[in-house]
Amino acid sequence: MEQQLYDYGMIGLGTMGLNLLYNMCDHGYSVAGFDSDISKVENLKKSKGDYQIYGAQNIKEFLDVLKKPRAIMLLVPAGHIVDLVIEELKPLISPSDIIMDCGNSHFTDTDRRIEYLAKDNIHFMGVGVSGGESGARYGPSIMPGGSKEAYERVAPMLEAVSAKIKNEPCVTYIGRGSSGHYVKMVHNGIEYGLMQLIAECYQLLKEITGISNEELHVIFSNWNNGPLQSYLIEITSLIFTQKDDLTQNFLIDMILDSAHQKGTGKWMSQNAMDLQIPVPAIDAAVSARDLSAFKNERVSASQKLKGPVTNLFNNKNEFAKIIEQALYFSMITTFSQGISLMRLASIEYKYDLNPEEVVKIWRGGCIIRASLLENIRLVFQQNPELQNLMESGEISEKLNSSQEEVRKVIKIAVDNGIPVPGFMASLSYYDGYRKGWLPSGLLQAQRDFFGAHTYQRIDRKGNFHSQWNQKI
Ligand code: 6PG
Repeated sequence: MEQQLYDYGMIGLGTMGLNLLYNMCDHGYSVAGFDSDISKVENLKKSKGDYQIYGAQNIKEFLDVLKKPRAIMLLVPAGHIVDLVIEELKPLISPSDIIMDCGNSHFTDTDRRIEYLAKDNIHFMGVGVSGGESGARYGPSIMPGGSKEAYERVAPMLEAVSAKIKNEPCVTYIGRGSSGHYVKMVHNGIEYGLMQLIAECYQLLKEITGISNEELHVIFSNWNNGPLQSYLIEITSLIFTQKDDLTQNFLIDMILDSAHQKGTGKWMSQNAMDLQIPVPAIDAAVSARDLSAFKNERVSASQKLKGPVTNLFNNKNEFAKIIEQALYFSMITTFSQGISLMRLASIEYKYDLNPEEVVKIWRGGCIIRASLLENIRLVFQQNPELQNLMESGEISEKLNSSQEEVRKVIKIAVDNGIPVPGFMASLSYYDGYRKGWLPSGLLQAQRDFFGAHTYQRIDRKGNFHSQWNQKI
């Protein structure tokens, strides 16, 4: 009897791999799965039901049951493990086979792996997948980059399993090389920025109005029915009503105020620094997570360092309305920073990204999905060459009409000693961007003063050096 061959292979049967595999089966694909943890393979076999699934006991068996040229997906932890899997696969696979790395790999690793495998005519694709467990199972946003030829072979499957918005799949060919993983990194940086802003809203409302969790749930639910509509606002509203299994309390009140991270937001900040492109809201979000981890020091400092006396803001609903506007403003400036980085990185790395297409696939399935992204998509559809989102007429109107509120929120936060690094960074980015004059001439003068680094002038071209009044 002829052995059945399977359409796709999945290496890594953890939460994401397993859910994506079932999603593929739901769309009629047959999939062979393998994991170095054999208990996960056994689990796959047990749960296979009517699906066309094969649980392979080892890599050789896994590769033997795949249709050729093979298409193999990796959902293993990013980093060294991806290299180990590649080393195991490389001697056993054939030219034209495709390996799709669907984890959060650093884009520079992806470039290196593409080059390494291209020597054997093996296609390596960096595929960003967003949406967590339920996204993987029922429709993620997918950001595939690499060879166009390889993409075209797997596109029907990616389109089938992805989230859909107005019947359009939340997947598109992102571009050459590591562009898929680069765009996923930017997605995650924006994710960090938005999460930090939402956390700041929580602290402001909680500490300045003394609001309850039930009331927070109502405010966030209302926000989710307005311009702030987004996945992160929606899950936040639900978090506030969840009860703890171990105590009688709300779960949110039992969770330690010390945030963890795998680092993709930090990568975006690091890369933006390298390219000298400002993304201050993301930098602030990364630093705020870092500071939160210094729990013991913070508790000890809270006994020693003074802040102002808190002035309670009695009208909770009025304050919530001001914060809603401030958050909308800052969401826009955070998206602006991410998209601006992507646009300039695309030139630097020759990705040839299309901002409208990227924004389009972020409208569904992913963690940063938000109704605002439809407005942003239209802006880039009308003007693909737009340098910065804040320059667009429609978006600048939204910013102009909410900038007073973000200033109010920051003033209230400062007067009450509440840290709002995300809001401050968002406003400073906006104010810095809209200022025709900044004090940086002084920086040039200082550099020339102490290091003869030269400066440029406003009235003629060239580099100049002056003899400064060195009386020190
Ligand atoms: C997604 C998420 C996901 C990421 C987590 C945790 O798009 O589904 O971005 O890829 O792993 O959000 O990220 P951190 O551990 O860095 O917070």
